[in-house]
Amino acid sequence: MSLSPHGGKLVERIDLNSDLSAINAEVEIDTIALSDLELIAIGAYSPLTGFLGEKDYESVINHMRLANGMVWSIPITLPVPKKSADCLVVGEKVKLKYNGQVFGFLDLREKYIPDKMYEAHQVYQTIDLKHPGVKKLLERPNVYLAGPITLTQIPPKNSEFDQYYKTPSETRKQFQQNNWKTVVGFQTRNPVHRAHEYIQKTALETVDGLFLNPLVGETKSDDIQANIRMASYEALLTNYYPRDRVFLAVFPAAMRYAGPKEAIFHALVRKNYGCTHFIVGRDHAGVGDYYGTYDAQKIFSRFRNEEIGITILPFEHSFYCTKCDNMCSSKTCPHSKEDHLHLSGTKVREMLRNGLTPPPQFTRREVAEILINGLKGK
Ligand code: ADX
Repeated sequence: MSLSPHGGKLVERIDLNSDLSAINAEVEIDTIALSDLELIAIGAYSPLTGFLGEKDYESVINHMRLANGMVWSIPITLPVPKKSADCLVVGEKVKLKYNGQVFGFLDLREKYIPDKMYEAHQVYQTIDLKHPGVKKLLERPNVYLAGPITLTQIPPKNSEFDQYYKTPSETRKQFQQNNWKTVVGFQTRNPVHRAHEYIQKTALETVDGLFLNPLVGETKSDDIQANIRMASYEALLTNYYPRDRVFLAVFPAAMRYAGPKEAIFHALVRKNYGCTHFIVGRDHAGVGDYYGTYDAQKIFSRFRNEEIGITILPFEHSFYCTKCDNMCSSKTCPHSKEDHLHLSGTKVREMLRNGLTPPPQFTRREVAEILINGLKGK
């Protein structure tokens, strides 16, 4: 039996047969809003049924809770330009268009103007424009629309990995069919290197299944593209994982790079997909040095376990130790830094772009080959 979704019930707001002919108002939305629309509709963001109204928004950014007290740490908002918002009337339905095509509609309940600098400070803990999440927040339009949504058309999937899009009700069914009583969720926006593999497999020693759930929505431009990553996950699973104990599906959300607050969000969403456990390692969802290495683990202590409702598996920074001849962490290895193989993400990306294979203690050969070929000419 899997855990209850956040709020007790999986939200479903899809109606592919909606008659939209009576709705005249419309608004163009951006890529992040389109992915959020879909994720709300399929229940990944349960208990949200739409884009946040002002009371929920303020409560989320100030207290990491919805106005009703439930834990929620990232504001899910629908920003549109002021001149589009001015044409819309609260109380009416509004078609949500992306690149001119309608994907859903909003029951417009509120329009409000956020204080984005305050939002940046609260959610990202910085107002530095070099932070990719803050930069994106400020680039998005300035008026937030709010209200329940309905998805009327499924957004296009990436055709290179369309079989990996699953709804929370589908993943829950799958876990049940596999007879997995305990499932650990793993969020990633990167290729799975040996450190990731080590913490996943350490977790797999004590739970029934691993839900490898790479984020494939908008990421910053120097992160490795989703299609290349997906090919690398497939190669890794084929060669190094027991296939009947791993389930791979994508998480089509945008990356916020909000570190600790995004870790809570990531955990709650994976609970909705049916996970009982969730891995939070070093600097989860972090970028640069905006967050402390273990801040994303510590933040969970601000809540009671039952408020989060999914068990967090915290992992120390993992690495390969030449003396242990093994993957380990400071919890399991007595040797000094000089014995540890350490490569920064930037260094690895640079090696791969130059066609150089990182050492096998860092990345599996099959993964490195795919990344090198994928990155050629990019
Ligand atoms: S993230 O932005 O999606 O968190 P990444 O894909 O690098 O980035 O990390 C996925 C998960 O693995 C996160 O929980 C992160 O904390 C963890 N992680 C990444 N590298 C290490 C490492 N060397 N040691 C321990 N945990 C790690």
